[in-house]
Parts: sequence; C-alpha cells; structure tokens
Amino acid sequence: MPTSLFPRERGPEVLELNDIHAGYGRTLVLHGVTLPRSDTVVAVLGHNGAGKSTLLRVAIGLIKPRSGHVIFDGEDVTSLPPNKRVARGMAYVPQGQQSFSQLTTMENLQLVADGRRRGKALIDQQLARFPALEKFATRKAGLLSGGQRQQLAIARALITEPKMLILDEPTEGIQPTIVAEIEHTVMQLAHEGLSVLLVEQHIGFALEAADKYLVLASGFASSTGEGGASAAEGVRLAMAI
Ligand SMILES: Nc1ncnc2c1ncn2[C@@H]1O[C@H](COP(=O)(O)OP(=O)(O)O)[C@@H](O)[C@H]1O
Ligand SMILES: [Mg+2]
Repeated sequence: MPTSLFPRERGPEVLELNDIHAGYGRTLVLHGVTLPRSDTVVAVLGHNGAGKSTLLRVAIGLIKPRSGHVIFDGEDVTSLPPNKRVARGMAYVPQGQQSFSQLTTMENLQLVADGRRRGKALIDQQLARFPALEKFATRKAGLLSGGQRQQLAIARALITEPKMLILDEPTEGIQPTIVAEIEHTVMQLAHEGLSVLLVEQHIGFALEAADKYLVLASGFASSTGEGGASAAEGVRLAMAI
C-alpha cells in the first residue's frame, strides 16, 4: 500500500457546483444542477446525453456557466480558465482516453512532467502505480490498448499533483477484464486521499466507489444521495425519469 501522495491540508469541501445553468450556444443543457459535496468520491450517473460531460466541462472551466458558481477549495473559480484551475489542484481526464498517439508512453508523461521540480519522481511514481505503462514505456500511445491508454491519461493527470481528479467515463470502451483494474485504481486513489469526481456508466462500481451520487436526467438533478450498494434501486428509478 503506497503512502498517501495527496496530503490533505484543507477543509472538507473541495468542489462545489452550485445551481449550474450551462449549455452550448443558445441551447441550455444543465438546468440548475448542484453537486452533492464530499471530500472523497462523488459519482455522476445518467443516460447518454443527460449532461454529465457538460457538467464536468463546467467544473474544469471549458464551459462558462450561464449562471451558478464553481467553488474550489473555498475559492470562487467560476471565471477562471482551465489552466488556472489545474494550477489550483484540479485535474481532468476527458472521455475517450486522449493522449498524443504519435508520442511514446514516456514522452506523453514527460510532456506533463517537464518543468516540474519533482518531474522525474512523479513519473516514477506513476510507472510504479501502472506496471503496464512501465512495460510499454517506449511504445507509441496509439498502439496501447484502451485500458492502457486510460491508465496513461490518468497517470498524466496525477503528475500535476492534483487535489481533485475529474474522470469522465474511465471504463468506457475498455475490455471487461481491464475494467476491474481501472476501478481498483479509482478506489485506491480515493483511499490515498484524493478527491474524485467520477462520471460512470457502471452503476454498481460507481456506487461502490462513491461517498455521494448525483443522477442527471435531461440536464436536471433527478436524485442525489449517499453511495453504497443499497442506493442502486433508487438510482435506476431516477435514471428512468
Ligand atoms: N460540443 C457540443 N455542442 C453542442 N451540443 C453539445 C455538445 N456537447 C454535448 N452537447 C449536447 O449536450 C447534451 C448533453 O451532452 P453530454 O454532456 O455530452 O451528455 P453525457 O455526457 O451525459 O452523455 C446532449 O444533448 C448533447 O447533444
Ligand atoms: Mg459524456
């Protein structure tokens, strides 16, 4: 068991998304969504098109909400661009395991680590966490499996030494045998003290990992509550709305 890489020196509430209205152009996608607060794992569930990715884009600052507030670590970051939010400790792994496919695994990690004082140590930590990345350090990212690319994307995010990791469907399109590995990683990170905002289609895993959950249905918060297996029935009902 690694020692905590994410020492906590802060209050319990990390990320607040309060009464978020947001969308694209004239189309409103999120209609007054408020995220339940937790310093461990919050899962966002809902069908395709419900607005989950849009909510995460608001959290990291890729979309400015039309109204509502994003508070991170006690600071209102609603008008800060993504890079300033990353500097404050947010890390974002978008849907689809994006890395630079023509660069090797190691080069992808170095791109993030370059210029960081502890860059080499941070890369080594992630290679120890993800043995497949160490094994395929010189392989082009485009030739990695879906699961390995997801691990690479998470490793890149962790090299920024975040307080909070925002993950958009980390198990999407990944072989079932590898899904369990990604799930284990998320649980491990939470155990190490990292806060996680997790969008997930696998309800069982999401509720197992989550301290709190939010169900989105057509851009509305249709249910929130405590995680755990007993929440599954309520979540399925809320998703059907
Ligand atoms: N870049 C975009 N431009 C315009 N509409 C978008 C864009 N991305 C998503 N949408 C629309 O916003 C709604 C919510 O999408 P999204 O947040 O991706 O849902 P989810 O992640 O829950 O599947 C959908 O109706 C989708 O078509
Ligand atoms: Mg999505």
